[in-house]
Amino acid sequence: MTKSLPINGTDYVEFYVGNAKQAAHFYQSAFGFQPLAYAGLETGLKDRASYVVRQDKITLVLTAALTPDSPVAEHQKMHGDGVKVIALWVDDAKQAFEETVARGAKPYKEPQASKDENGEVVMSGIHTYGDTVHMFVERKNYKGDFLPGFIKWEPEYQPEDAGLLYVDHIVGNVGWNEMDTVANFYSHVFGFEQLISFDDKDISTEYTALKSKVMANDNMWIKFPINEPAKGKKKSQIEEYLDFYGGPGPQHLALATDDIVKTISALRDRGVDFLHVPDTYYGTVTERVGEIDEDLDVLKKHKILIDRDDSGYLLQLFTKPVEDRPTFFFEIIQRKGAQSFGKGNFQALFESIEREQESRGTL
Ligand code: FE2
Repeated sequence: MTKSLPINGTDYVEFYVGNAKQAAHFYQSAFGFQPLAYAGLETGLKDRASYVVRQDKITLVLTAALTPDSPVAEHQKMHGDGVKVIALWVDDAKQAFEETVARGAKPYKEPQASKDENGEVVMSGIHTYGDTVHMFVERKNYKGDFLPGFIKWEPEYQPEDAGLLYVDHIVGNVGWNEMDTVANFYSHVFGFEQLISFDDKDISTEYTALKSKVMANDNMWIKFPINEPAKGKKKSQIEEYLDFYGGPGPQHLALATDDIVKTISALRDRGVDFLHVPDTYYGTVTERVGEIDEDLDVLKKHKILIDRDDSGYLLQLFTKPVEDRPTFFFEIIQRKGAQSFGKGNFQALFESIEREQESRGTL
C-alpha cells in the first residue's frame, strides 16, 4: 500500500472568477472573510489580478484575467466562476512533486522557489480531475502573511467575521463512470484511503441519483469526496453541474464552525442564500438522530440539518450556488463527534435541490 503523502492541511483555495475585485467584496460582506493580500498590475502582474481573503484557517484567493489571452480568461470562459486550485500545505514541495509525478500525476508546475523580505516559499503543482490542479506550498522558511509577490491589502471596509474556522472537506464532481478512476488517483498518487462510499441505493430520490467515494489522508485533515452521476428517472444534480461547468470540477467547499446557529444566522443576515428545508423535516428528525445538545426549535428556525453516525452527530446546511451557473456552492458544518458527511440528510436535500433544478428547467 502506498504511504500517505505528508500534508499539513489545506493551504488556500483559488477561484478563477469574472471580476476578482467584486468577488472579494462578496466574500467579505456576505461570508465575513477578512482582506489579506493583493497582486495585480501594481505588483508587476500583466495578465491577472488576485485578492486574498482569510477567515481563521480558511484562505481564499479570487483571481480574474486582465487580458483575453490569459489562461484565467480561458478557464472562466469555459467553466464560469469556479475553483481552479486546491493548494495543499506541505513541508517539502519538491519532494511532494517528485513523489506524486513518479506515481503517475501529470505535472502542472515544476518546483520553484520565490523570495521576499519575509523569506522563501517553494511551490509546485500537479493536475487532478478536469481542469483543477493541486499546488503544493512549502512555507516553513516564510514569515509573511501569504506568498511572495503579494502586497498587504488593507481596505477600510473590514466587516466582522462569521465564525468560520477551517476547510472540513472539498467535494469534486466527475463524469459518468469516472469516480473509481479519480478515487484510485488519490489512492495511488497521494496514498489516501477510502473513508466511506455511497452508491445510488444510498443517495437517490425518485428522480435523481449519485455515487460517491470519500478519500482522506492519514491525519484526516484532507478529505475529498468524489461524486459521479447515477441513472435516475430525471437528470441528476451532478449531470446538471457537469453540463454547466463544462466537465468535472469542485462542487462544494465545506467550512467548519463551532457555533452553527450563530454562523448561519450571521450569513443569512448578510444575504447568503441557503437551500430550502421543509418544516416537515423537523417532524421526524429526532427519531433518526436521537438526543442532541441544541434546541430543536432553534435549529428549525435557522433550517439547520442534523445527522448522526456511530461516533456522534453533525449539524450542516448548504448554500445555493454562489455564481450564475448552477455549479459551485458552500456547506457550513459543525461536527459534534460525527466523522461522516450527512448521509441521512441526502433525501431531504435532494428533494430541495430537485425543486431548484425544476425551476431552472434542468431536471
Ligand atoms: Fe459536504
